[in-house]
Amino acid sequence: MKILHLSDLHFPTPIPLHQLKGKMIIGYLNYSLRRKKKYPLKIWNSILQSIQTIGPDIIVVSGDITNVSHETEFREAEKILSELPQDKVFYIPGNHDRYTKQAVGENAFYEKYFSNLSGEAIAQNSDYIRVKKIHDLYFVGWDSSFPLSILDAYGRVRPQIVTRTLQILKEKKIRNYVLVCHHPIWNPQHRQETSHHKLLNREEVASLLKEKPPLAFLHGHVHTNWVKFPGKELPYHVINSASSTRIPDSKHESGFHVIEIQKQNLSIQRYTYNSEQSKFTKAPLISYSEKE
Ligand SMILES: [Fe+2]
Ligand SMILES: [Fe+2]
Repeated sequence: MKILHLSDLHFPTPIPLHQLKGKMIIGYLNYSLRRKKKYPLKIWNSILQSIQTIGPDIIVVSGDITNVSHETEFREAEKILSELPQDKVFYIPGNHDRYTKQAVGENAFYEKYFSNLSGEAIAQNSDYIRVKKIHDLYFVGWDSSFPLSILDAYGRVRPQIVTRTLQILKEKKIRNYVLVCHHPIWNPQHRQETSHHKLLNREEVASLLKEKPPLAFLHGHVHTNWVKFPGKELPYHVINSASSTRIPDSKHESGFHVIEIQKQNLSIQRYTYNSEQSKFTKAPLISYSEKE
């Protein structure tokens, strides 16, 4: 089973300035001035070419499809992503898709445009647990994001979400699953995040997950790639594929991963965008053990 893991696509969608309000104004200006150039659509077109060559069975996108959660961005993203084989995809939202208060809840734009591709909604009320079986593998999606001030991008997964997920796995007799969440559950020592950016209760989540660990924890949010091998505290691979559509530089080793699962064994190949060849090529894995 071959999984292509993409993240943080942040498609460069123009929004008329008069349609922006509140936090969106500063967010969009900041994005337009500082980041937009780094996300040219040609990289997305190269991803589509890579999909043709690699032939994945499953495509996961671990959040941050938009920049400021404006409906124009969701509509445009849906159009762009419609080129993917829809029965093979699994999406979850990131903090940029939950940017404002209006971007949360049953009538939010993420739900309108992507809910039917994000798996079966298991939890009730505003709790977000999604499960999708693609081929023989189960994917569980969490939403770790909520609207915050312009300076914050931290996340949280309430312990009830973790325990309910474990209960569902038991009820459905699911033995092997891949967990997808936008915020990382682990960072290497030299890439620790501040309390303004990290998954605040990640130790609590990791501890609860010990009862039934996933095969892998796929995430994004930190725009550089890495893979953590299974360890004592987190006995599974933690894979960061952000940002797949960003031009790489010394601080952002961007790209995506292809994960092959055979029985319960994983082999992982990283790809990065090669500007000279205008396409994605195989790149060495950036990997760590849990203590690094
Ligand atoms: Fe992002
Ligand atoms: Fe993010």
